[in-house]
Formats: sequence, C-alpha cells, structure tokens
Amino acid sequence: MKQSKQITYEHDTNWRTLELIPPTIATRLEELLQNAYAPYSNYPVSSIVVLDNGEIFVGTNQENAAFPSGMCAERVAVFAAQSAWPTTPISSIYIMTGETEREPAAPCGACRQVLHESEYRQKEPYNLYLLNRGDVLLRFKGVQDLLPLSFSLPTS
Ligand code: THU
Repeated sequence: MKQSKQITYEHDTNWRTLELIPPTIATRLEELLQNAYAPYSNYPVSSIVVLDNGEIFVGTNQENAAFPSGMCAERVAVFAAQSAWPTTPISSIYIMTGETEREPAAPCGACRQVLHESEYRQKEPYNLYLLNRGDVLLRFKGVQDLLPLSFSLPTS
C-alpha cells in the first residue's frame, strides 16, 4: 500500500522588513555568530531556544580537529535548555546561518532526531525558525514537519 506524508512550512524572503522575528532575538542571533568556533567549515551557525517560562538559551556550532567531536549550534542550545529546565516546554527555537546568499541551513539528521525527542518529551509542538543572515526565513509549526517519519521509544 502506497503511503505519503506531507510537510508544511512557510518560506519568506523578507523577514527583516516584515519583522517576523523579534528584533532582540534577531540581533542576538547575529551577535552569536561571532561566538561560533568553526575553523574547519568556516560556516558559523547560531541558535536560541526560548522556553515557556521566558528563559533563553543560546548555542553556536563548536567544531573539533577530531571531526565527530564537534557539535551543531541547535543541539548545544537545546541540551543547555533541557539541562537547566528539564520539565519546562520549549516554545521556539531559532537557527541562523552566517550566509546571505544561500538558503538557511536545514538541520542535520542527528539534530532532527534530537529536536524530535525534545518535542516528544514535552508532548506539544514548538515553533522552529530557520534563518539566514540575509532575509530568508523558513517557519515550521513543529518538528514533525522536519522529521515526518521519526523514531521514538515508548517512555511511559
Ligand atoms: N551546523 C549547525 O551547527 N547547524 C545546522 O543546522 C547545520 C550545520 C554546523 C555543523 C558544522 O559545524 C557546520 O555547521 C557545517 O559544516
């Protein structure tokens, strides 16, 4: 039997002029790009996680000479948030790349799995914003639209 799943997201090419992102978040994401440690890829990425209680956690990609030892920006931010507030739901995550010409980065497979677990854990979807430093924004209403056929283990 043939089956299909559809993903849905908004694609905007003018997030700055439409002010689709809170200005404080946008400024912080841009500043954070300077904190990325990306000497091997020269591809800085920044991330901000906003929790339901208003707390904010940041992350940048942290690379390593032993390549697999590095970490993507969004995983740094999500793990920091969940370490501080393990039961507080995430309301939004923002991920910005330093580029202006190419599309925003779509999270890698490992990050999608981590994001999925965080959503599964809180049992409610959260907003995902993928931005480049130019004007392009992809808006998702939940991780299911990034990873439609996901892996979970029963936890209760
Ligand atoms: N990277 C991230 O931090 N997040 C993404 O969503 C895509 C990719 C990082 C991993 C690596 O440090 C660099 O960007 C690309 O090689």
